[in-house]
Amino acid sequence: AAGGLVALAFAGCGIVAPGPVDTVGEVDFDTPLAIPPLAESHVDADGTRVFALDARAGSTEFAPGVASESWGFNGTYLGPTLVADRGEHVRVDVTNSLDEPTTVHWHGMHLPAAMDGGPHQMVAPDASWSPEWTIDQPAATLWYHPHPHGETEAHVAKGLAGMFVLHDEAERALGLPGEYGVDDVPVIVQDAGFSADGAREDPQRGYAGGLGDEVLVNGTRGPYLDATTELVRLRLLNASTARTYAFTWGDARPIELIATDGGLLEASVALDHVRLSPGERAEVLLRLAPGERVVLQSRMTAEIAGLESVVASMNGGADAFDVLEVRAAEELQPAASAPTELASIDDFDPAEVVTTRRFELGDSFEINGEAMDMGRIDETVTVNTLERWIVENTNAVPHSFHVHDVQFRIASIDGEAPPAELAGWKDTIFTEPETTYELLMRFDDYADPSTPYMYHCHLLWHEDQGMMGQFAVVEPGQRATMSEGTHHEH
Ligand code: C2O
Ligand code: CU
Repeated sequence: AAGGLVALAFAGCGIVAPGPVDTVGEVDFDTPLAIPPLAESHVDADGTRVFALDARAGSTEFAPGVASESWGFNGTYLGPTLVADRGEHVRVDVTNSLDEPTTVHWHGMHLPAAMDGGPHQMVAPDASWSPEWTIDQPAATLWYHPHPHGETEAHVAKGLAGMFVLHDEAERALGLPGEYGVDDVPVIVQDAGFSADGAREDPQRGYAGGLGDEVLVNGTRGPYLDATTELVRLRLLNASTARTYAFTWGDARPIELIATDGGLLEASVALDHVRLSPGERAEVLLRLAPGERVVLQSRMTAEIAGLESVVASMNGGADAFDVLEVRAAEELQPAASAPTELASIDDFDPAEVVTTRRFELGDSFEINGEAMDMGRIDETVTVNTLERWIVENTNAVPHSFHVHDVQFRIASIDGEAPPAELAGWKDTIFTEPETTYELLMRFDDYADPSTPYMYHCHLLWHEDQGMMGQFAVVEPGQRATMSEGTHHEH
């Protein structure tokens, strides 16, 4: 039944559905995993930690000797990992060396709307932009990527994305693996298409967007990681434009999840798989025996995607990927056992909710029946209040739902309490078809009636097509106004 509905909903899109992909057992893990460099920074006289990012075009050899056009920050593909501590004031000097405008959005960050890097903070070619803010949220794996309206999929697919890691005292005190690139490893997963000679080509477009038939980790094809410690922390980021993964270990050992988008869980959870839609992150721990090899895979099924029937082109079919091989050294640095209690997370009190809003993810890339309009504020939120957002996917296909500025909690899914892996801080969720999600979120600080934040589907093609809306955070009684220059004449 779902297949028929999908065909109806997308009739006329001219989509050629790519078939299901299975690369398990076919990947030669013959290339050492690239580790994005740590971003250099310096601390100004006034105590601000200053980073620099330059968006530029270049070319990358995804296969030896075969150059493909690509974009990167401070390099030719992806960008450096920014690291900062809770309480630090940071500034990022962004320059745009591309020949078209772009933006840099800090996905998952709590910060003023004017610093958010959404579609209203365009950076023209050869121009620069220097957002600054104070980090005030728990330790987490965040990321950054462009957000120019209508062009986000293209800019991310070309390679503009990077990780932004936050630490705090409570997290450091836990003694989790924390040596970057050694036992604390970024795992940026993206799918891509390649021609037989190894040149990157545009992937086929399915209902979710462009779906490549290979996965890259940190831009590496066929990657392996040499591990030297008994305990390894992997920071998984789904930076794909459309594909959703169900990460699992090839030998079926449980996957030990310790953190989701916005920070540590209260306690680790042992899972069969970790499902990540585009934009979502997960931190997992891997315990290794000397000399062993274990393969991170993705095994997506219709059931995991929440689909009644297999819709292969939605990547809710039977896609399976070999992602990353971890090779343990013959002698491993011993690790203390990981703590069982990770963080204490205070629940929001639903009695404090001041506003309930509804968001219907329906057909035709619309939210509540409307496509994104840069000149329209869809929702006006009063600063320092708790809200309930009810997000209903009435579509026959999955979407993902992301809210800027906040980390939220899932209060219920179709009226039931969320599973443990969805009970912590989230900023992006996979929304299954015909399913309703109740989210609680507080909009603290940063009232600005003239600059909106975004909420949208993080399947970037859907977002580009208009599956996005804008909210402004205002002082009590204030009205949202669009500032000069961003207001559209109607
Ligand atoms: Cu990851 Cu609105 O973005
Ligand atoms: Cu969508």
